Amino acid sequence: MVVVAILAAGRGTRMKSHLPKVLHSLGGRSLVERVLESVKPLLPSRQIVIVGYQADEVKAAMQSIPSLEFVEQTVQLGTGHAIQQLLPHLEGYTGDLLVLNGDLPLVRAQTLKQLLQAHQENHNAATILTAHLPDPKGYGRVFCNGDNIVQQIVEDKDCTAAQRQNRRINAGVYCFGWQDLARVLPHLESNNAQKEYYLTDAVTQVGKVMAVDVEDYQEILGINDRLQLATAYEILQQRVKEKWMVAGVTLIDPTSITIDETVELNSDVIIEPQTHLRGNTVIQTGSRIGPGTLIENSQLGEKVTVQYSVVTDSIVQAGSRIGPYTHLRGHAQVGAGCRVGNFVELKNTKLGDRTNVAHLSYLGDTTTGNRVNIGAGTITANYDGANKHPTKIGDRTSTGSNTVLVAPVILGNDVYVAAGSTVTEDVPDDSLAIARERQVVKPGWVSKKRSEQNPQSKNSS
Ligand code: UD1
Ligand code: CA
Repeated sequence: MVVVAILAAGRGTRMKSHLPKVLHSLGGRSLVERVLESVKPLLPSRQIVIVGYQADEVKAAMQSIPSLEFVEQTVQLGTGHAIQQLLPHLEGYTGDLLVLNGDLPLVRAQTLKQLLQAHQENHNAATILTAHLPDPKGYGRVFCNGDNIVQQIVEDKDCTAAQRQNRRINAGVYCFGWQDLARVLPHLESNNAQKEYYLTDAVTQVGKVMAVDVEDYQEILGINDRLQLATAYEILQQRVKEKWMVAGVTLIDPTSITIDETVELNSDVIIEPQTHLRGNTVIQTGSRIGPGTLIENSQLGEKVTVQYSVVTDSIVQAGSRIGPYTHLRGHAQVGAGCRVGNFVELKNTKLGDRTNVAHLSYLGDTTTGNRVNIGAGTITANYDGANKHPTKIGDRTSTGSNTVLVAPVILGNDVYVAAGSTVTEDVPDDSLAIARERQVVKPGWVSKKRSEQNPQSKNSS
């Protein structure tokens, strides 16, 4: 049985931010959410988050996560002081306590499992996660004897020059037998460089403490400032991209591409440079996305192409070609085999199959049938200043260039709309609608006008 405690009460001064550090976002999820995600597979019996700085904001941000408990550390006197706050909440508990810093977003569940296992198999009083860093600056240094038994943990600020040479660091992840820890917690002292009660001091007082090295030191990057936040994002992106490349996705110029972990791709998808895939996006096999494209919370079918476009909250079915310069948004749905683009915006609009909206158009709140052709510059006037109104367009209907469809309006099947029409009334099936002034030509009108303006010089240029 294990109870998890996450340290999330600090302000994170080095972030230079009004936002509490643990709420800073890393690839769409806060640091503390990521930590909680990593402990999930351990099936903890309780998850306690220790909050303090802007406690209400931190709690509110985690409202939707089930069965979290919050314990408040009203003044932040250090990580040891934070864990002292658990004493009244864990009275009589005899199992293990897994403690994690809240600023440790990349740690893998597998690593935590190994730590817990080592702790239990070796009957340690405490077991801590350590790493050998090329640049250990800022971290607490861990000193062990030959058998990985911890002798001392010294914070960077408290290190002598010689101690600072040690590159084995404390990752900020600890397993304790709670009873062993509870015994020493009340006796911590703050006679150190930061005048804080260090959890690391408790570690060396509980009894037999073992250090377990993490396999991949990138996992234990602690986020203290914006530089480390950016580094963490790079590591995260690398993990995601490697996963998809191994699964058969081509990334052209991977460093210029970003992919959220929540995105799903299929084999033989090709992602071109400067393309960003976010949220709950799913892309089926054979699709080619980019260059220069943003896809967010959208589903793209097989063999879809999208170039230089923005697609959010939308669906595109198989074989459709989107872009260049298309904006699909507000639950747009594009059928199979369509062509949309060259400066086209679709909002809350559903296109049937094999329908084209090929140039310079805006369709909002519109439904079209199959094999429709929307002429260049067709615009739906769907908003009267107060309400949005729908437009319906039947199968095989064509609108001429520069058509305005004033909603609510219905065009039937097999309708033609003459170029330049402003359509305000429904058009029945199989009809031609012309809704514009007939052209008038007045021969000789120009020379007559000029001579009236300037009577002396006839036909002057
Ligand atoms: C801590 C460790 C250090 C380790 C490093 C790993 C201590 C004394 N030092 O240093 O050995 O190498 O993490 O990243 O623990 N917090 C509270 N209440 C407080 C103070 C901090 O909840 O009063 C929380 C913070 O919100 C943060 C975590 O504890 O999530 C760690 O605090 P931080 O100040 O970042 O510790 P480090 O100096 O990085
Ligand atoms: Ca830290």
